[in-house]
Amino acid sequence: MERTFLAIKPDGVQRGLVGEIIRRFETKGFILVGLKFMNVSRELAQAHYDVHRERPFFAGLVDFITSGPVVAMVWEGDGVVASARKIIGATNPLNSEPGTIRGDFGVNIGRNLIHGSDAVETAQREISLWFKDHELVNWAPDIKSWLYE
Ligand code: RTP
Ligand code: MG
Repeated sequence: MERTFLAIKPDGVQRGLVGEIIRRFETKGFILVGLKFMNVSRELAQAHYDVHRERPFFAGLVDFITSGPVVAMVWEGDGVVASARKIIGATNPLNSEPGTIRGDFGVNIGRNLIHGSDAVETAQREISLWFKDHELVNWAPDIKSWLYE
């Protein structure tokens, strides 16, 4: 089944929104398969944001993501990559719809609370960058038949 990589950024952790953010994916019906609370090395931050390496905001982005602990997660479900991006909302929280995480809790593009993979291939790359195979839990919740026909 499809998987995505999500990370609650240092602002989400510092603002006490970890439970609220996880709740939204959990109650939606997606399945948690990986979770760790960690400090991010500069090496990992630079690799994660490698696509933005030439952008003017790259250095600030790496500084920010390494400035405090993050919650790194892998979630599973049909269409989870695109659906998680909708739950997260537009990159700039001022453009994010109310009801999305960024729309409900953010006001600044550099403090947009959570990262979500932007495509299935990106998700595979990011999951293998952040997690070792043995850190992912293969399981099926007992309520699965109430989520999927
Ligand atoms: P993310 O990767 O964090 O899930 O966010 P995203 O796909 O919505 O946005 P992306 O274009 O990948 O940008 C990555 C992060 O860089 C910061 N950013 N700052 N100052 C700026 O113009 C600017 N543009 C992007 C944001 O924190 C964004 O989440
Ligand atoms: Mg992105």
